Amino acid sequence: MTISARDRLVFPLDVKDLAEARGWIDRLRGHVGVFKVGLELFVSAGPDAISAVHDRGARCFLDLKLHDIPATMAGATERAVAREVAFLTVHASAGPRALRGIAEIARGSRTQILAVTILTSFDAAELASIGLDAPSSAAARLAKVATDAGVRGLVCSPEEAGTLKAIVGPEGLLMVPGVRPAGTDHGDQRRVATPASAIASGADYLVVGRPIREAADPVAAAGAIVREIAAALEARS
Ligand code: C5P
Repeated sequence: MTISARDRLVFPLDVKDLAEARGWIDRLRGHVGVFKVGLELFVSAGPDAISAVHDRGARCFLDLKLHDIPATMAGATERAVAREVAFLTVHASAGPRALRGIAEIARGSRTQILAVTILTSFDAAELASIGLDAPSSAAARLAKVATDAGVRGLVCSPEEAGTLKAIVGPEGLLMVPGVRPAGTDHGDQRRVATPASAIASGADYLVVGRPIREAADPVAAAGAIVREIAAALEARS
């Protein structure tokens, strides 16, 4: 299936309440393919945030990064699948048993499970401080855990996209945050790349928040990113 450049752009609704989220969906829905509901908005608005996206005819990515015992993760996954979100994140480090259970629950549903490898905000020094080795090897190890458990979608930094694409295979999917158009602020992100470089490395979807949200003209910023994705896809094919 061919996915358009626009459909590959994911906008995170990292805002404090539903009113603000609805404003962003209305403003950007013709320009991005997926809206992401993450922790901030979900804590504030709960499942109404998912409905706000669906009611406006858009796809919803529920980015709750589940990490708990297998039974709790299975229950939460069942509830997310019932709401027909397009994507749901879990941490790969939750381990094989939890991941196998979740993969089974989502099989045949409208929801694609994505396993988070190593957060894009980590650099090598911070990762070492929690006892993990270099981002590339830690991410590859977690990617292997996820794919062995039947989870064929991963969240990773653009820096690891090439290596992880080889692990998930052509049918696997890479959701890539930590994307910064040239000249934009990195904020708290550490392992970043431009949209063109992320696509060239094998990314399937790009999550881009602050470079759009904080732009003087967010619609124009989203449009420029979609054009950059389209050009990189053309070069990749
Ligand atoms: O504003 P920015 O483009 O940095 O937003 C990135 C989004 O992607 C945030 O919502 C963040 O929670 C999410 N994310 C991430 N790194 C991951 C997984 C998700 O930055 N590994």
